[in-house]
Amino acid sequence: MKRLVDTSITVAVVATIAVAGAVGFVYSGLYNIGADDHHTRPVSALMQTLRERSIEAHSQHISVPDLEDPQLILKGAGQYAAMCTQCHLKPGMENSEIRPGLYPQPPNLSKFRPDPREAFWVIKHGIKMSAMPAWGFSHDDATIWSMVAFLQKLPDMTPEQYQDIVAKAPPDEDMEMDDDAGHSHEHPAEPAHAGSQQPAAAMSTGSAPAMPSTAAPPAAAATVGGV
Ligand code: HEC
Repeated sequence: MKRLVDTSITVAVVATIAVAGAVGFVYSGLYNIGADDHHTRPVSALMQTLRERSIEAHSQHISVPDLEDPQLILKGAGQYAAMCTQCHLKPGMENSEIRPGLYPQPPNLSKFRPDPREAFWVIKHGIKMSAMPAWGFSHDDATIWSMVAFLQKLPDMTPEQYQDIVAKAPPDEDMEMDDDAGHSHEHPAEPAHAGSQQPAAAMSTGSAPAMPSTAAPPAAAATVGGV
């Protein structure tokens, strides 16, 4: 009995010292939070496992729509070109001004094809303590699926094919959101109408195709950042 008490006291003392040490370390300011100071190997491995398991667990029950829909892929091309290339590159682009300084490094999505479920979850929710934003604040699920569909094709594209598809893609409508009052995040008119929306797409604006095709020209892109 006495031994048990002794052991318990020892454990409590060691735990207290460990907690005090951790708190002291945090308050000391010794930790270098700079993005140019990389993690040690064990910390890196821990973070990577945490990230991978979290994304796997959170995305496993997502049901994937038809990603082969050409209109969906086309829309995703425009979205990707407008928002993603500075960090994730494109065919023929080796680097960007922002990329070398990012830690963790964004994967080169012109060479790496992410799992659709995981990609959808990551694009929608972002990744904490990294540069990957949560695009779900400014984009509906249907738009996020368009990016996922495009990402499945991107690694097979030549620079010419990439330029070609981006040139044909509908403009990134979110760039102009809030320009006219009442314009919601739901995109009222998909330039490619004809009911080609994938089943899972939550297009809440039911009678979408009613508007005459690509009516809206890309209005002033000045009001970016209207999240
Ligand atoms: C400011 C930089 C930045 C921008 C802009 C950005 N990302 Fe990311 N993204 C990152 C970083 C950094 C990571 C890796 C985070 C990590 O490893 O913890 C990442 C990770 C991802 C992943 C996960 C890939 C995997 O490992 O499975 C996907 C998919 C992704 N981004 C898609 C996009 C898309 C699509 C866009 C545009 C809508 C975008 N990102 C815009 C920085 C960015």
